[in-house]
Amino acid sequence: MYGPQGNGGGHTRPTANRKVTVPEIRARKGAAPLAMVTAYDFTMSRLLDEGGADLLLVGDSLGMVVQGHTTTLPVTVEEICYHGRAVARGARRAHVVGDMPFMSFQLSPLHALESAGRMMKEGNFESVKLEGGEEVAEHVRRIVAAGIPVMGHVGLTPQSVHAMGGFKVQGKGEDAAERVIADARALEEAGAYAIVLEAIPPDLAQEITAAVSVPTIGIGAGAGCDGQVLVCYDLLGMFREIQPKFAKRFAEVGDMIVEATRSYIDEVQSRVFPGPEHSFKPNGPRQRAEAPPPPPPSAPEFAPADEIPPHWQTH
Ligand code: KIV
Repeated sequence: MYGPQGNGGGHTRPTANRKVTVPEIRARKGAAPLAMVTAYDFTMSRLLDEGGADLLLVGDSLGMVVQGHTTTLPVTVEEICYHGRAVARGARRAHVVGDMPFMSFQLSPLHALESAGRMMKEGNFESVKLEGGEEVAEHVRRIVAAGIPVMGHVGLTPQSVHAMGGFKVQGKGEDAAERVIADARALEEAGAYAIVLEAIPPDLAQEITAAVSVPTIGIGAGAGCDGQVLVCYDLLGMFREIQPKFAKRFAEVGDMIVEATRSYIDEVQSRVFPGPEHSFKPNGPRQRAEAPPPPPPSAPEFAPADEIPPHWQTH
């Protein structure tokens, strides 16, 4: 039976690894803040999950921090799904969200539904996220109606970087602030279960958080949101090309990687590595082996007796 299972159903997960669900994320509105982090591979997913992240986002930021592009625009659905499968394998507890890439949903609500469905099937995601406000509300409604949970994303929407004239703070001034509020409300009405607020003034983020009934997850939007999200390589101090003001580095893993690589090279060059503790047991002195006797004429040399096809066997 697939679906709700009673006691003794046999398929329930151990409590410690129980998955964070969409209803639980919704219930965190105004409660304990949600912590979301981006992840792009199995190892990072396992570590962030062990660290207690509530949500892992396979963000299209992978175009910049994994692939080295200057924007997120080149990322494809195939690429998001490839990384999604790896992250899903690593996430024992965290809810895994897939970012809908540029031009995978904009054409029409039906196009958005097709792409979202594909991401759920091929990327093993548990929900999808898409950028935009009022102009994508109908797209969100269509995806949600198909049973796929959708996270919204307003304010600075990096897929519109060229229209915005760069990665710039949004919602500054009365009109701009009203537009972001209207966008967030439209997403809530369309059925989004949470909304990312990116790079907007903190007082505006607080106003939106109070205005909508679903959790807001901020990045560069101050402390007044229902949760926060960071790109994992920013959080860990690994991405050095762009260092946004809002991205606190909780460790300098980038420096540790460079240092560890230098130590490795030193030890390779000085033959300190590999030492006996990293080598297998020696063979000992070699003794000249006698030449083996020739095989019996009826048995083929390349197959053990029990693998010889019946029609070759002589007895
Ligand atoms: O792509 C991404 O990583 C994102 C987050 C920064 C919210 O959209």
